[in-house]
Amino acid sequence: MSPSIKVFAPATVANVVCGYDVLGFAVNAPGDEVVMTRKDAPGVLISKITGDDGRLPLDPNKNTVSASVQHYLEHIGRQDIGVTIELHKKMPIGSGLGSSSASTVAGLFAINNLMGNPLTNKELVPFAMKGEELACGYGHADNVAPALLGGFVLIRSYEPLDVISLPSPEGMYAAIVYPEVDVPTKDARQMIRTKVLLKEAVTQWGNVGGLVSGLFLKDYDLIGRSMVDVLVEPTRSILIPEFYKMRALAMENGAIGFGISGSGPSVFALTRDEATARNITNALQQLLKSININSLAYVSPVNQAGPVILD
Ligand code: HSE
Repeated sequence: MSPSIKVFAPATVANVVCGYDVLGFAVNAPGDEVVMTRKDAPGVLISKITGDDGRLPLDPNKNTVSASVQHYLEHIGRQDIGVTIELHKKMPIGSGLGSSSASTVAGLFAINNLMGNPLTNKELVPFAMKGEELACGYGHADNVAPALLGGFVLIRSYEPLDVISLPSPEGMYAAIVYPEVDVPTKDARQMIRTKVLLKEAVTQWGNVGGLVSGLFLKDYDLIGRSMVDVLVEPTRSILIPEFYKMRALAMENGAIGFGISGSGPSVFALTRDEATARNITNALQQLLKSININSLAYVSPVNQAGPVILD
């Protein structure tokens, strides 16, 4: 029988409010699964996609998983290898939870494993960024890097790429709510101002430094004070129903900080424990229900493992 592998890769919360394109963390659930099987003939094929309501391309050049796997095989000089890929979407698309990133990372982790792990997870980041480029027009790394490495990650620089793993305070939880309205990352990126005032930049990089320090110091108050975004949130929050009411509710219910997950529409809060996270998701879901918006909720500690082999 041909060698086959089944991999899970986690969803991620990019930006962590103040760190547009430079900060992100992974959660245990949701996430996507990929089953990859070696075939005799060369080439990368997508044999099946489930859970996407027919929204994702089966064309191997257009699908982020197959395209990044092809790119990886070219890089390691193994275009003689052939694989078929089944992608099982276990999370909403266009949710701001790193959906394309979870799929791509699962695919890259699977092929690297089938090849005997010639690259480390960190070395897979640039290949996963290619997938993001295909998905939304820009190869940002703040979803793929935490999905590959687990934990909190800082992209200190894109040119050259410099990816730093940060500590996660033990016991910290994420409360995530996805209001079921569609916000494609591509559109949510195009609406952002490309010029910022120096005064705003000063506020922003102060907060990025504060958040990183807070993670090292395990200082929840500092983390919370730093979860402020004066550059992107004021624009993107317009796309999210009752964003400011949700923030007020989350903070009243004990959140350390609250904001948009990635490009939205999901929102998230960081909390000191699981019970607080559950209270927050309940409160936010009730609010959304009162305005007739369906939602999904996820409560998870910060994921430390990144992608894992299943079965
Ligand atoms: N940093 C990216 C953005 C994350 O905010 O557009 C997308 O999930």
